[in-house]
Amino acid sequence: LLSPAPAQDLAGLKVVVSAGPTREYLDPVRFISNPSSGKMGFAVAEEARARGAQVTLVTGPVTLPDPSGIEVVRIETALELRGAMLAAAEDAAIVVMTAAVADYRAAERAGEKQAKVAGDVTLHLTPNPDILAELGRSKGERVLVGFAMETHAGVERAALKAARKNADFILLNYPTREGTAFGGDDNEVTLVRPDGSHQAWPRLSKREVAQRLLDEAAALQRRSAL
Ligand code: CTP
Ligand code: CA
Repeated sequence: LLSPAPAQDLAGLKVVVSAGPTREYLDPVRFISNPSSGKMGFAVAEEARARGAQVTLVTGPVTLPDPSGIEVVRIETALELRGAMLAAAEDAAIVVMTAAVADYRAAERAGEKQAKVAGDVTLHLTPNPDILAELGRSKGERVLVGFAMETHAGVERAALKAARKNADFILLNYPTREGTAFGGDDNEVTLVRPDGSHQAWPRLSKREVAQRLLDEAAALQRRSAL
């Protein structure tokens, strides 16, 4: 049996999604990163495409293949992610930041491989730009969605983040639930708005989380387009 074609409720809209980790190089062969698999962002991009959107997916290094029908931009560093997102978001209706952006990069990236030295070393790190906050400052009519992983005071912290970054909502998850978040196929998230109102969703596949995320974003988009 064929499953019914999804509603084309995003036809004519551009959706931009970031996914995966960033890599912050210390020297040509070493970097700081995190275990983000990219699965959540790829699911959002594929779901948006299935619903008729024109999709750009900006992704850090992950093992997932390019989804078909989607413009894929491969980046490594947070600075590259920033450049790609600001360019792609220009004419977007919905922007979703699932990327696990490294908060810091090396203050100076060495041009040559650094040999080890005896004893301790100190790394000098400098903060990366906050891409979601930057997109929030030039938000216009765009719907802006973030993700956050918290170990404690999740709703409170996510609401403050959504308010500070001018995001419409943030999907909050916790690193401790088995099979969810980093690397898993499922996700258990709470939708948190900047005013602190929130709604816990059951444990769902990442594709189902993507569906609900886009339901919510599309409703906000229709309202802001009125
Ligand atoms: N984000 C971003 N640019 C950064 C850091 C984060 O765009 N430099 C985005 C993430 O993609 C995510 C959201 O902001 O959608 C929240 O990320 P998170 O790491 O939870 O927020 P931070 O402001 O970095 O706060 P924390 O100190 O808790 O890491
Ligand atoms: Ca962070």
